[in-house]
Amino acid sequence: MTTQDFILKSYATKVESGAVKWESPSNIALIKYWGKKEHQIPENPSISFTLSNCKTITEITYTKKQGDAISFDIYFEGQLNEAFKPKIQTFFERIESYVPFIRDYHFKIETSNTFPHSSGIASSASGMSAIALCLMSIEKQLTHTVTSQAVEKSYFNKKASFLARLGSGSACRSIEGELVVWGKNKSTESSDLFGVKYDGDLHEKFYNYQDTILLVDKGEKQVSSTVGHNLMFGHPFATQRFEQAHNNLSDLKEVLASGDLKRFVEIVESEALTLHAMMMTSMPYFMLMKPNTLEIINKIWAHRAANNSNICFTLDAGANVHVLYPEAEKKEVCEFIKSELVAYCQNGHYICDSIGKGATQL
Ligand code: PMV
Repeated sequence: MTTQDFILKSYATKVESGAVKWESPSNIALIKYWGKKEHQIPENPSISFTLSNCKTITEITYTKKQGDAISFDIYFEGQLNEAFKPKIQTFFERIESYVPFIRDYHFKIETSNTFPHSSGIASSASGMSAIALCLMSIEKQLTHTVTSQAVEKSYFNKKASFLARLGSGSACRSIEGELVVWGKNKSTESSDLFGVKYDGDLHEKFYNYQDTILLVDKGEKQVSSTVGHNLMFGHPFATQRFEQAHNNLSDLKEVLASGDLKRFVEIVESEALTLHAMMMTSMPYFMLMKPNTLEIINKIWAHRAANNSNICFTLDAGANVHVLYPEAEKKEVCEFIKSELVAYCQNGHYICDSIGKGATQL
């Protein structure tokens, strides 16, 4: 598919108003996206687990208006939120050629997260994907009345992911579950334009895989992802890193089919540390890990060695640690987290999550 396939050509102009509501999850990358080309096209493929409990719930009420200026209000947890406006304005401007009705209506966007606001958990993936899904439901309501061509599910999901990508790259992996690939590669069915549900074999050891998110630092990141991605231009290790992501994805595909958890741990932890190594070797260089991030990593390594456990960690662009483990080891790992890791979390806070099936219309 090309970008042309996502341009809405005709729609009903008589619909006066309506409302749509979605809940959309966050996701955690196993192979990391870090570095992009123009228009949010990734430099390398990535694959993620869709989460289940960390979600954004968004309702959009749309009302016909005069004039063609983009018009919306955003309410976050019941309060009018001016701070979110510029990001959504940029998003709407980026996607307007694909959803031209955006200038015909005023949108009231009401959104909230299931996870604490200032938890340091990136809400852009769940937030942008929830808005994209709402816009697709509006598109469906508007096209339903003028054409018999139903917006069928596969197109709906692809375009929702395509739009979400233009809001925040990793958001395109939040529409479906349980694993989603984004970025062209030789090993899996994929596209640079949208996320695709992973179609490879999945060993039962990965069913209901667990992710406990340890909240090490709940503050604002000192360096945004946008700045970080841009620092991959001219980065001395960029070419090798992008090649490594392709190789890791091809290796991970075998691991997902065979259930080789030892190799899974190696790939996932190496990806997390490589992501942060890219940050530390950018110019200007920066570091998002905190002392407690390293304390936790060392504890996980010691615990794994002593207990023949399959616990491992991954990191986002921040200090929090995602602790990944098979469901079969849940009891033992939860005890370890409570007795040895919670002490390194800000105010002892952590979130228990697991692989999820994707977004739901409410
Ligand atoms: O979606 P963005 O632009 O915020 O980038 C996020 C990139 C990482 O979370 C660090 C990795 C990933 O693949 O999700």
